[in-house]
Amino acid sequence: MNKKPYIIDFKKIGSPALGYISVAEKENLPFIPQRIYWTYFTPEDVERGGHAHIHLEQILVSVAGKIDLKIETITGEIFEFVLDAPHKGVFIPKKSWRTMKYSHNAVQMCIASIEYDEKDYIRDYDEFLNLTK
Ligand code: TYD
Repeated sequence: MNKKPYIIDFKKIGSPALGYISVAEKENLPFIPQRIYWTYFTPEDVERGGHAHIHLEQILVSVAGKIDLKIETITGEIFEFVLDAPHKGVFIPKKSWRTMKYSHNAVQMCIASIEYDEKDYIRDYDEFLNLTK
């Protein structure tokens, strides 16, 4: 069965007076992470992403700033998310085409299910569309 994108609302531990901690751990993740990376200083006119993955599943978190995320799944459904809170993540299923735009101060953390492998990327949109047929 094809999984769908969904929001993960990480618990906020703390208070307005003290600040907060959010935790990604086995209990609230759909996979055991093999890699974490983050992107930052992306100019506002740049669109990142523009690829799908054969096996990789991901969770994106905007730990600062705002991210506009668009996901097209293998079933052709389009999902749009605004990530604008550090306790909120979005699960991206495998075989999903994604694009992201960032506010100038955005820092995107990605929790990834597998190690980096360029062979896992589908960077050609027509190739992606062929998968959906
Ligand atoms: P890419 O995944 O295309 O970035 P985005 O989806 O944010 O647009 O990766 C950009 C470049 O960084 C590409 O040349 C591959 C490299 N890269 C790594 O070397 N290791 C990694 O873990 C990631 C995610 C990317």
